[in-house]
Amino acid sequence: MKNIVILISGRGSNMEAIVRARIAGAQIKAVLANRADAAGLTFAREHGIETRVVDHRHYDSRETFDAALQAQIDQFAPDLVVLAGFMRILSAGFTRHYEGRMLNIHPSLLPAFTGLHTHRRAIEAGCKLAGCTVHFVTAELDHGPIVAQAAVPVLPDDDETSLAARVLAQEHRLYPQVIGWFAADRLVWRDGRVYVHGDVGATGTLA
Ligand code: GAR
Repeated sequence: MKNIVILISGRGSNMEAIVRARIAGAQIKAVLANRADAAGLTFAREHGIETRVVDHRHYDSRETFDAALQAQIDQFAPDLVVLAGFMRILSAGFTRHYEGRMLNIHPSLLPAFTGLHTHRRAIEAGCKLAGCTVHFVTAELDHGPIVAQAAVPVLPDDDETSLAARVLAQEHRLYPQVIGWFAADRLVWRDGRVYVHGDVGATGTLA
């Protein structure tokens, strides 16, 4: 059984999808947030999952916040740390500590549109495809090795809201799938490349 700790900052719909997926071989040990008002904490508590809040505003530097967060996370001895809408930039020391055992989901087809406002920027750029990416976390924001992607069409009348909803539906499908690979020891990051063992087909999908 793999111990999993999920980090959120707000709504927590990806966390909810992961919990609801009841992934074989994965046990969600805790949900941590950097804000006490993160809505997803309520869902986690209602589902009997331990929650913790480490409020970044109580720390005077990124490093001290990350150290406090790491101390909380490590109490649960995680095999995998899952960033699910965790909207904090992480220090190099923190990312190194969890190298190969921390995943993030980002709402774009990386390496395009790192950072914020991905859907608005995809529409403004005239993209015909948008999507989401699950990747291992490294020190450089949104640049870790890509594990899997899902693509959706950008439709002529899309605005940020409609495109975000179409991508989010894919996030909710893709993230539990990737965590399932990790839980089954099928996900390997070696020599800078990511491999998924077994018959999973392509790790990029078009919705
Ligand atoms: C998701 O769309 C996720 O991809 C994005 O925030 C949203 C969180 O929603 N993450 C990032 O932008 C990270 N750079 P959720 O709280 O409902 O899962």
